[in-house]
Amino acid sequence: MLAGGRGTRLRPLTHSMAKQLVPVANRPILHYVLDHLRDAGVADVGVVISPETGAQIRAALAANPWGVRLTFIEQPRPLGLAHAIMVSRDYLGTEPFVMYLGDNLIERGIAEFVRTLDHEGADAAILLKEVPDPRLFGVAELDGGGRVVRLVEKPAAPPSRLALVGIYLFTPTVHEVIAALAPSARGEYEITDAIQGLLDRGRRVASAVLDGWWLDAGKKDDLLEANRLVLDRWARCEVAGEADAASRVVGRVTLAAGGRLVASTVEGPAVIGPGTTIERSRIGPYTSVGAGCAIVDSTVERSVVMDGVRLVGVPRLEDSLIAPRAIVTRAAGGGARLVIGEDSQVEL
Ligand code: G1P
Repeated sequence: MLAGGRGTRLRPLTHSMAKQLVPVANRPILHYVLDHLRDAGVADVGVVISPETGAQIRAALAANPWGVRLTFIEQPRPLGLAHAIMVSRDYLGTEPFVMYLGDNLIERGIAEFVRTLDHEGADAAILLKEVPDPRLFGVAELDGGGRVVRLVEKPAAPPSRLALVGIYLFTPTVHEVIAALAPSARGEYEITDAIQGLLDRGRRVASAVLDGWWLDAGKKDDLLEANRLVLDRWARCEVAGEADAASRVVGRVTLAAGGRLVASTVEGPAVIGPGTTIERSRIGPYTSVGAGCAIVDSTVERSVVMDGVRLVGVPRLEDSLIAPRAIVTRAAGGGARLVIGEDSQVEL
């Protein structure tokens, strides 16, 4: 499970946070990945981490409710997905393995997919999904019979619309190919080139088309979409916190213990974290509010509000991502006053 990298496409959120820990419906993306691995019967998980965010990743997995064996493997520099396999070579030994990118979120599990190698006698199996803009991904070209014939990483002229989802299966044969790999134009050892290397050596690469949605949450636009889709599928009506008589909870709303609604309306699907107070405000639909927030006299729709945020007198916030501990208030006198971090985006 890959949980390293720099997360440059998710700045400013990732100046301090690992991209795999960005919350979707108040759970880090990485937790959904572990759900899928556990459900597919994977009992041993090697977690590839970076020196910068490794400690956060370890802390986020420390409780390990999945009961899998976790081994942390440090990748000293972000030199690509095939490089992550290189640094994991001793750990992987002679076993076949699943490689799952910790920022990929899919609707359904991978239990069926992990059996593909055995079924097809292949040395790799890839998952594909049709996307509107394949230039952002690795892309597969299939022949008339549906066999994978060629793979290209982020092509300017894509041979198809079938993108490589960040979940792959390999036999140990891939190690030989990776050992002979040269870095790509972006200076990375590309997994796409490694799989192409298997094809060039006459090895079989099986493929399956993914059922259900797929989001590469390492890309900013996908994050709000991920929040919307995850809330749509998994939000439950569960009010453990307190709602006063003047508050209304409509639809599937999770209000964690220690969460408090005062004269407010929350429209589901929505989740409100523990220790968060919402006063005279309207929240939702499609909104996640983290732990320890205060939202007062505000309206928030289709947004992700992370832990410790304070929103006061904000008339209408929509499609927004608010990083931990940020403060947004209404300016007196009409002019806007901003103290915002590097790479922030503000639309007034
Ligand atoms: C990586 C792979 C790409 C794949 C994508 C899926 O891209 O190189 O082939 O389609 O993950 O998330 P990256 O996120 O490194 O740009």
